[in-house]
This record gives sequence, C-alpha cells and structure tokens, in this order.
Amino acid sequence: MANIVVFGSQWGDEGKGKIVDMLAEKSDAIVRFQGGNNAGHTLVVDGEQCILHLIPSGVLHPGKQCLIGNGVVLDPVVFCEELDKLAAKGVDVSPARMMVSKKTHVILPYHCHMDAAREGAKSSDGKIGTTGRGIGPCYEDKMSRCGIRAGDFSNPELLKAKITTALVEKNVLFEHLYGVEPLDAEAVFNEILPVAERVLPYLGDVSSAIQEAQGHVLFEGAQGTHLDIDHGTYPFVTSSNTVTANAASGSGCSPRDLERIIAIVKAYTTRVGSGPFPTEQFEEDGTYLQTHGHEFGATTGRKRRCGWLDLVVLKESVRLNGPTELAITKLDVLSGLKEVKLCVAYEYNGERIAYPPQEQNGLAHVTPVYETMPGWDEDITGARSWDDLPANAVAYLKRIEAVSGVKIGIVSVGPDRVQTF
Ligand code: GDP
Ligand code: IMO
Ligand code: MG
Repeated sequence: MANIVVFGSQWGDEGKGKIVDMLAEKSDAIVRFQGGNNAGHTLVVDGEQCILHLIPSGVLHPGKQCLIGNGVVLDPVVFCEELDKLAAKGVDVSPARMMVSKKTHVILPYHCHMDAAREGAKSSDGKIGTTGRGIGPCYEDKMSRCGIRAGDFSNPELLKAKITTALVEKNVLFEHLYGVEPLDAEAVFNEILPVAERVLPYLGDVSSAIQEAQGHVLFEGAQGTHLDIDHGTYPFVTSSNTVTANAASGSGCSPRDLERIIAIVKAYTTRVGSGPFPTEQFEEDGTYLQTHGHEFGATTGRKRRCGWLDLVVLKESVRLNGPTELAITKLDVLSGLKEVKLCVAYEYNGERIAYPPQEQNGLAHVTPVYETMPGWDEDITGARSWDDLPANAVAYLKRIEAVSGVKIGIVSVGPDRVQTF
C-alpha cells in the first residue's frame, strides 16, 4: 500500500468520511491534518450511521491508529464527547490507538464566543455563515502567536497564564466592540482544567507516529478546496488550508510522503453557508438534488444549497491538489433526472474562461456554460462495477474524466461502506 491523501474537491461534504472509512481497512494509521469540528464526516456501516467531527474516520476499524495532527484545531470538550459516544458503541478509544499532537492548537470557549460575536455583528450579506465552532478565532490566535496548544495542558500554570493574557485583549472586544458579555479567565480555566486532564494521556508525537507507520498512512482532509483560506472563495472560506499540500505540514511529514492522492467529487455540487456558487439551482432541479441527496449539514443541520457539477471548480482543484484519481460519490442521487448538466466553462466579462477568475468574488460574476446530457432512470444503488451502470451514467462519468483530465478510481452509489466500486 502507499500513503493516501483524501481531499474534498468542492465546498465540503463530498463524502470524504465514507471513502476514508472504506480505505482505512488497508491502512495502519488515519490522520486528520486541518480543520476541526466544523467538519461532519458521515460513515454508514451495516446500515448504522456514525457522524464524526474530530476523530479520524478510520476509527470504526479495530486496531487502526487514529491521529490528530498539528494542523487541526481541537475543541477538547467536543473531543471528549466524541470519545464517549464511540466508547458507548463499544469502539476502542483508548490512548493505545488514539493520539493528539502536542502542537495542535485548542479551541477554548472564548473562540466560540468570538465566532458568534463576529458573525452577529456582520450585515446579512457579509456573514460567512460559519459553523460557529470557534474555528477562525482559534486559527487567528495560532497565527498571532498567542494560541494555546494541547501540549500546554500538561502545565496548568502556563495554561492559566495564557488564558488570562488572551482574555485581556478579547474582553475589550467583547465588551466595547461587540457589546457581548466578557469572559472570566478563572472560570474558563476551571471549566477547561478537568477536560485538559482527560486529554493528557492522548498527547503524543504524531509526526513520529506517521514515520513509524510509513507507507500505510491515510490522510483525511476536511472541508473542500474551494473553502481553502488561500485558494477558496475568499472571504467565504474556512480558516485553514484544505489543499493536499497541507497534509504534510499539518501532520508532520514530508510532501514526498504523499503518494496516492484521491479527489472526492460529489456527482453534483453542494455548499453550506454563504458565498458564490455559479451552478446553484433554485428551482425544481435544486430541490430534487436536495431532497434525493438528503442534503442537510452533518454539523449544523442546515439545508445545503445544491446545483449541477461544476467542472471548472473541479479543474482548479486538480491544479491545486494533483489528484492521481477521482472518487465520484452520490452518483445514485442523479437517477430519475431526465437530463443532467455539467458546467464546462464560464462566461466572464464577455469572454469564455476555463478556470475560475482569481480576483475576490470573481466567481459571483460568472455565467456557467453547460453541457446537457441525457439522464437515467435506473436505481443504481446496487451497482458494484462499471458494467452494472446504465450507459448514460457511464457517459456522464467519462465526460467528467475527459474534462478534468483525471481517471476515476472509485465510484460510490450509496451511503453504506459496501455501496462502492
Ligand atoms: P464529508 O463531510 O465529505 O465526509 O461528507 P458528509 O458526511 O458531510 O456528507 C455526505 C453525505 O452523503 C452523508 O450523509 C453520507 O452518508 C452520504 N453519502 C456518501 N456517499 C454517498 C453515496 O454515494 N450515495 C448517497 N446516496 N449518499 C452518500
Ligand atoms: P466537511 O469536512 C461544508 C463552511 C461553513 C462556512 C465556512 C466557514 O464536513 O466537508 P467555519 O466554521 O469553518 O469558519 O465556516 O465553511 N464549512 C463547511 N462546509 N463542509 C464542511 O466540512 C465545512 N466546514 C466548514 O459552512 O460556510
Ligand atoms: Mg461534512
């Protein structure tokens, strides 16, 4: 086996969790390298659904190591809740198989408070529509070098001092800029200390663990390429680099260790939260995709916006991530549509363009150029090979390969682990 990176090629929720769960069987270790509990990764095994926000999606395979890398922002309360939920299902979540990097930044209550205050203060068209999980404010502290790292949990005095210092500045903003309640440093420390003590046995050197599992590591991306802080639809993005290059720096290995790179591509497009979405459908077709695809956010329960597959967006993802193959998910959701559309280019400022414009909000001003293909009626949820697919579905997949320039290696036709070939 080779090390594998799985990443989202669109705006998240492509089905990364399902594919990671499936691939984990042949891996030794699965590592999250960015994002936090803004992610919601859904696994379905023997008909039973499990949604993971922080713990890597390989956890349902006994014996596999689950690692949380330095590039993640970890809410320790949510981490412990997730451990408890899994333990209640009989899953081994002992420190023998789970590790959090000492360098991982932690989300504290003031990050969530700041996330809510900032969003609350924005006008309706300026809101990012964040998940409210404190992701952005935690990454801000990391970059401004006042963040708290999981390794600090072993030193309560340092922890208390850092919380106190952080709140000096934040309370000014809470009280005098946003007009919300300030937080008490002592109270935050007392709330977090027992949780910190619980996390302590999980702390370790993730970089070394990856080196030891060399060649059998599965890197699990969160969010999607167009939510990337640099390359996404800024400012309507998340606060981390979601592209595959960050699999190396966010976990502590060399880019040379990233071998097989799998782009997860939903057979249509969805987006949760604000921001441009050229192929979004507001009428019948959008409703069809939303209802047949059960498109509700796995973290916030919000209805996902839906539209046709945007190959311009995919082509930029290919350029940024270098996938060795595509994994197409939710192909089954398209069954029953008379016609399916693929966006193959944009009209922009009177010109036809093959890649997204690079200026801020450019994507809000493009007009999609569609190719329309005949749909198919057959239920394909039982398909287990290309031969089981109707000719029109095969033609749709072949067109995706042709325009993106990347071969399809995996096709998913239902939420269950086994509904894949
Ligand atoms: P992630 O964030 O990329 O892991 O994706 P989510 O779990 O947020 O959303 C994907 C949703 O689609 C989940 O409800 C999955 O159970 C479901 N899903 C994944 N693959 C398929 C598929 O091939 N067909 C159908 N119908 N559902 C799928
Ligand atoms: P998974 O891993 C879809 C979106 C939010 C919002 C923006 C910023 O399940 O694919 P944040 O809370 O990160 O500051 O919010 O990013 N977002 C996601 N959308 N799937 C996700 O994760 C997302 N994580 C964040 O809706 O628009
Ligand atoms: Mg999700």
